[in-house]
Amino acid sequence: MPGVVIVGAQWGDEGKGKVTDLLAERAEAIVRFQGGNNAGHTIVRDGEEFKFHLIPSGILYPEKACVIGNGVVLDPRILLDEIEGLKRRGIDVGNLRISANAHLIMPYHVLLDTAGELKLGKLSIGTTRRGIGPCYADKALRLGIRVQDLLDEKILRKKILAALEPKQQALRELSVQRRKLRKEAGEGGREGGDQSVADAPDPRLDLHTMSEEFAGYGHRLEPHIADTSRLCWNVLDGGGTVLFEGAQATLLDLDHGTYPFVTSSNPIAGAACVGAGVGPTDIDEVWGVAKAYATRVGAGPFPTELDDAVGRHLLERGHEFGTTTGRERRCGWIDLVALRYAVRLNRMSALAITKLDVLSGLDVLRAAVRYRSREGAVFDSFPYHQSILHSAEPEYEELPGFEADLSTCRSEADLPPQARAFLDFVARFAGVPIRLVGVGPGRDQVVWIGDEPHLRAA
Ligand code: GDP
Ligand code: IMO
Ligand code: MG
Repeated sequence: MPGVVIVGAQWGDEGKGKVTDLLAERAEAIVRFQGGNNAGHTIVRDGEEFKFHLIPSGILYPEKACVIGNGVVLDPRILLDEIEGLKRRGIDVGNLRISANAHLIMPYHVLLDTAGELKLGKLSIGTTRRGIGPCYADKALRLGIRVQDLLDEKILRKKILAALEPKQQALRELSVQRRKLRKEAGEGGREGGDQSVADAPDPRLDLHTMSEEFAGYGHRLEPHIADTSRLCWNVLDGGGTVLFEGAQATLLDLDHGTYPFVTSSNPIAGAACVGAGVGPTDIDEVWGVAKAYATRVGAGPFPTELDDAVGRHLLERGHEFGTTTGRERRCGWIDLVALRYAVRLNRMSALAITKLDVLSGLDVLRAAVRYRSREGAVFDSFPYHQSILHSAEPEYEELPGFEADLSTCRSEADLPPQARAFLDFVARFAGVPIRLVGVGPGRDQVVWIGDEPHLRAA
C-alpha cells in the first residue's frame, strides 16, 4: 500500500537524488512523475558520482523497477545517452520502464525554448533550454508526440507534420535570427564563405530526417516501453512500496511557484498521482527535501539571496554549480516562510535537511521568519502577489553558528549543539519532523533522526 513522494521544498537541487537513493532501498519501484532532462540528480556511492537527468535515482538497485512516468517529457537522445553511459559503467538497466504515454521533446521544442528566451531578453526566465516549456505546451495543445508514436513510423510522420505546421512562423523567424547572428559573427558572409549553407533550412527540422531518426530511437527504446500505471498498481496492491521521485521543486511549480519564473510542470506532491497514474489515497507519506540554506538557478525572486562573503562561502563550500547546465547557483539563507508554504502545499510528513555540513565555519546562522514589503507591511506567510514577493525583504532569526566539520557525524549525538539547535528551530517553524540530515555528498554521510524509516506495510 505505501506510496511515498519525495519533493523539492525550495527551488531545486536540494539533494532529491541522494534522498531517493537512500529511501529506494526500502521500495519496490521508483517513479519519476514530471519534468524532463532539465533535472540533474546526483548520487555519490563509494566515491563514484552518478548524475541522472531522466532515469530515476533508483537505478543503482538492479532488482527494482525504475519508471519514467506519463507526466515526464522525454528527449529520447538524452535518455539513450544516459542508458548507454550507465551500461558502460556496468549498471544493469534491464528494469527501466518508460510510459507509452510520456511526451517526447522534439528538436523544434529545443529550438523554440532558446528562441523564446532570446526574445525575452532581459526578462528571460533562465530556462535550461532543454525544450521543456514548448513540449508541455504542445501536450496541452494536443499536438504532442508520445513515446508510443515512436513505434509506428507512419503515425509518427503524420503527427510530426501536424505539430510542425503551426510553428512555421516561429521557426522562420528563428532561421532569420540565426542568419543574422552568423553574419554578425562573420560566417557565411565572408569572402569565400558559402552563403547557401547559411541560408539552408535547419536539417534537424526536415520531416523525413526527423521521422527516420525518431523511429530509430523507437526501435532502441521498445524493450523498455510499458503500461507503467499498471506496474505501479501491481506493486501497491501487492503491499509494496512505490517511491515517487519529484524533479524541480515546489517554488518552481507552474501553478504554485514564483510564476512566470517557474518550470512548465507541477513538481508538487499532488502531481505524483497525475504523472504516474495512481490515486490520491495511494500516497501515504510525503518527504520534503530542503538544504540547510537556499539556492536558485535561473531568474526570479529570491528574498534571502546573498551577495556577500556568506553567499560566496555557500557557493564555494556547497559547490553550487548546476548539475544540468553548469551555471553558478544563486545562494542565500534558508527561507522558512517559503519552507512553511512548501510544507503545507505538499502536506509533508517529513523533512530531509541536506548540506548542513556547508554551514560549518559561519559565526552566525540566519533563517528568514517573515518578510516586510516595500510599504512596510509584514508577511508571516508566503505572499501570493508577484510584486510583493519581488520586493520582499526578509527578517531573520539569528542562531549561533558552529566550527566543527560535520562530514563524519553519523548520529544526532555527533552533531554540535548549535547544529542541533538550528535543526530544532527549522523543524518547529516548519511544523514537521526532520527525519534525515545530510552531512556530505556520500550516501553514508547522513544522520537519521529517530528510527530509520520502515516504509513497507507492517
Ligand atoms: P537534486 O537535483 O535535488 O537531486 O540535487 P543536485 O544533485 O542537483 O544537487 C545537490 C548536490 O549536493 C549534489 O552535488 C550532491 O552530491 C550534493 N549533496 C547532497 N547532499 C549533500 C550533503 O548533505 N552535503 C553536501 N556537502 N553535499 C550534498
Ligand atoms: P532538479 O530536479 C534547479 C529552473 C531553471 C529555470 C526554470 C525553468 O535538478 O532540482 P525549464 O528548463 O524547466 O523551463 O527552466 O526552472 N530549473 C531548475 N532549477 N533544479 C532543477 O531540477 C531545475 N529544473 C528547472 O533554471 O529557472
Ligand atoms: Mg539538480
